[in-house]
Amino acid sequence: MSSTLYTNINSLITNDLQLENGLLGELTDAAFVEQDGYIKWVGSATEAPECDKRISLEGKAVLPGFVDSHAHLVFAGDRAKEFSARMNGEGYSAGGIMNTVRATRSASDAELDEGIATRAMEMYRSGITTFETKSGYGLTVADELRSVSLAVQHTEDVTFLGAHVVPEEYKAKPDEYVSLVIGQMLEACAPYSKWVDVFCDKGAFDYDQSKAILKAGIEAGLLPRIHANQLSASRGVELAVELECASADHLTHLTDKDIDLLSGSKTVATLLPGAEFSTRSAYPDARRLWNAGVTVALATDCNPGSSYTTSMPFCIAVAVRDMHFTMEQAIWSATLGGAKALQREDVGAIAVGKAADFVVLDAPSYSHLAYRPGVDLISETVIAGTTIYRSNK
Ligand code: NIG
Ligand code: FE
Repeated sequence: MSSTLYTNINSLITNDLQLENGLLGELTDAAFVEQDGYIKWVGSATEAPECDKRISLEGKAVLPGFVDSHAHLVFAGDRAKEFSARMNGEGYSAGGIMNTVRATRSASDAELDEGIATRAMEMYRSGITTFETKSGYGLTVADELRSVSLAVQHTEDVTFLGAHVVPEEYKAKPDEYVSLVIGQMLEACAPYSKWVDVFCDKGAFDYDQSKAILKAGIEAGLLPRIHANQLSASRGVELAVELECASADHLTHLTDKDIDLLSGSKTVATLLPGAEFSTRSAYPDARRLWNAGVTVALATDCNPGSSYTTSMPFCIAVAVRDMHFTMEQAIWSATLGGAKALQREDVGAIAVGKAADFVVLDAPSYSHLAYRPGVDLISETVIAGTTIYRSNK
């Protein structure tokens, strides 16, 4: 297969620690070679090998494609009215999920599929090259099954989230719903899912219910991840560490004990600035996590209730401005951090042997992603060597 040399890169973020060039392994005046969808060579433009094709990136910055490790793309309808009410002083609660459940249940398969595809395209336009998506707006065996079986046609990282909230028809008998989730629903959904997740929080599932659900998922061959400490300082982080979840997500309400637990574990802390932004909540302080040696990822949490954004640059800007990430930490967390949260070795870095998934910025440096908030700086998004999006600027 033919090889392509990408050259004249002002700033190339490799995330390769072996380069001993800071957290991001930044190279200036750089080049790299793509062949058969993989990175074959990375180095200085002056030392680049001969290739079949040569593409000059004219002094732009190149980053590994963003890895969005937390999203809910399978749904119908929107909840703009709830957002407006919140901006008018109302609070957010898990109960709003049922509004999307009703819309999702009455949508056709084609409508749901088109919704996933549209939001995936939005993600590519924002530089995301890998994304996870959850089910969780069906909450019947049939609707969860169609959610995961549609999702798996768009990404290999599908998460079964039958335990998003107890649906209204089970309000008086939540334990029966938990039995359904860990029984028939899990059995139907496991063949299409890699991950199992639970919303462990006020108004959703408590520690014991969450533990039973995650353990059942693990027994069915799925890998655990968890929505933890979004609405309250509950026992979500404790459970994440106890069950060695790949990731504990949200962490809006973190105690010192939670940080200690995370720092002694392999569980990635995934922060979701879009959720605090859209629910007008206080942001967690990422610096405390970084200083404690916790691995931190950044994700969009794209969903119609608490964070209806597909924009990783937006999340990076808010993370830097309001969560006290350094610019470098934010870029790392949105790329290699996300890959670690998904336990993906093949993405998140521009290094020999990794997938040729990268994003070209209409800017000379990654810092412009927060320095120029709200400006579309994505020039090109490439997945496995194929351009999936190109700006027509
Ligand atoms: O990650 N927290 C639980 N799930 C979503 C929100 C769901 C909704 O409000 O529709 C989240 O924020
Ligand atoms: Fe979520």
